[in-house]
Amino acid sequence: MANLYDGKMAAIFDAMYQTFIDYDQEYVFYNELIQENNCKSILEIGSGTGNLAKRFKENDQEYIGLDYSQSMIAIAQERNKKSLFIHGDMRDFELTTPVDAIIITGRSTSYLISNEDINNTFDSLYKNLNTQGVIIFDFIDANRFIPFIKQNQAILHEATYEGINYIRESHWKTTSLENFMLEWSAQYYTIVNDQKEIITEDLSTVRVFTLNEIELFLYLNNFEIIRTIDRKTYAYDTYVIMAKKKML
Ligand SMILES: C[S@@+](CC[C@H](N)C(=O)[O-])C[C@H]1O[C@@H](n2cnc3c(N)ncnc32)[C@H](O)[C@@H]1O
Repeated sequence: MANLYDGKMAAIFDAMYQTFIDYDQEYVFYNELIQENNCKSILEIGSGTGNLAKRFKENDQEYIGLDYSQSMIAIAQERNKKSLFIHGDMRDFELTTPVDAIIITGRSTSYLISNEDINNTFDSLYKNLNTQGVIIFDFIDANRFIPFIKQNQAILHEATYEGINYIRESHWKTTSLENFMLEWSAQYYTIVNDQKEIITEDLSTVRVFTLNEIELFLYLNNFEIIRTIDRKTYAYDTYVIMAKKKML
């Protein structure tokens, strides 16, 4: 995971995802869930390049971002000079003060590839949440994703940002790995004079989940699900889960 979204990848991610995701809508979606539970303090894990942070800040909300990639944090901090971003790992972190809501957006859960990663993450979330607090996170639905990539050898995503046209070509390898883990190779191109020019290539291992698996992981880590939302997000279908701490 060491090189995840580092250096050039962080800038390319930032450019392309501005097209993929409508961050105004994304903010409204998550904020409504947060407000439903009267949560004041918010931690966003996988805060990326700070697009949601910007909306939370504009609305004067108590927000902290946490991300594993220093390069993503650098862009987020530049975009949100007054917000706090922590360099950390969702599998093992400790805030100075627990928060009311922890959100993990943009399918950042895909990087939790072993059962240990998931259990450690839910354990850390539990410890950093106030008694009445909630977690809200999304994940890619394995039951729809696996058939989709089996039928599509190469998946193209196009984006335009600040006048530059980008193409991402993704290839997914489903074989030989455990736990619905996948090898994802992505080639990133810009289009110059109608010609594809490669800018970088990225290889990562990611995981998709069945709803039932997530329900069991939450149960084992003492969370009670209060809402399950079937949500189409860019490119792949996801579920969004909202859960609260069970009192032990
Ligand atoms: C697909 S990006 C989503 C970023 C942002 N949520 C968005 O929607 O624009 C995934 C983010 O998760 C971060 N990430 C991956 N594994 C992590 C971990 N173990 N702890 C914290 N952040 C992690 C990556 O560095 C990256 O910024």
